[in-house]
Amino acid sequence: MHRRTFLRAASGLAALQADSVSRARAATSSINHRKPEEAARDEDYWREIQQAFTVDRNIINLNNGGVCPSPKIVQEAMQRQLEFSNMAPAYTMWTVLEPEIESVRTRLAGSFGCDPEELAITRNASEALEIAQLGLDLKSGDEVLTTDQDYPRMITTWQQRERRDGIKLSMISFPTPPPSMDDLYQRFERAITPRTRVIHFCHITNLTGQIFPVKKICQMARSRGIEALCAEGEDRKALAHDGRARVDERQHPQIRRDRHASRSQPQRNCRGADVS
Ligand SMILES: Cc1ncc(COP(=O)(O)O)c(C=O)c1O
Repeated sequence: MHRRTFLRAASGLAALQADSVSRARAATSSINHRKPEEAARDEDYWREIQQAFTVDRNIINLNNGGVCPSPKIVQEAMQRQLEFSNMAPAYTMWTVLEPEIESVRTRLAGSFGCDPEELAITRNASEALEIAQLGLDLKSGDEVLTTDQDYPRMITTWQQRERRDGIKLSMISFPTPPPSMDDLYQRFERAITPRTRVIHFCHITNLTGQIFPVKKICQMARSRGIEALCAEGEDRKALAHDGRARVDERQHPQIRRDRHASRSQPQRNCRGADVS
């Protein structure tokens, strides 16, 4: 293909891709001033959002949590990068793409308001949480406090540590909706024992959508020398404020070791970015 024809075709493709995002963005800013109930009924708005995805129009997809469909622009970017990576892997994968992981990490850190060294790119929420769950230095008899609405895989991971390391898992329950946010906070506070080492909870539970007072719980945990571990992918704004409290690495010899190791050896084979 002639160079000029190729460039014209490539810029047309880029414009098309940017178009679905800019249309969704424009539609979203047009409903900013409206009540949620009104926006929910605006078919023109939802049409623009629908166009950004490739979900089968013959079914109604209700799972946008555990298996959330990716927007079209994300699928296209993944395909492009995969094809590029396979063009000449020793060069395209190692020399071009891999160093970019570090620049992505730096930019993500800027967006979340933390130091790049405080942020790890993992493949999904489960991997991120399990690194912390399995990496914490816990001894037999140490207690982990969570809720009976935490994500099932996270609960089975703690149960694995019960069998392996003899730790104890305690779960609080709560009514949905709870009487108040303070009620949720107090349920955690009341369940703490002298052996509690970790409080693990979701910012928003996937079962009922209940929101937890992240900052208050993390501050209370810190003040008592307890690790706070929070799955918080759903709300980036909250993460920017409270994310640092999730895993306080100064208190984690294991995580501190990993951090120093990662300085001398940049992360490899980490392709996806998940910020839970
Ligand atoms: C609170 C919570 N933790 C963990 C997960 C697991 O996510 P993933 O499938 O990306 O590992 C989810 C998924 O919905 C979740 O809501």
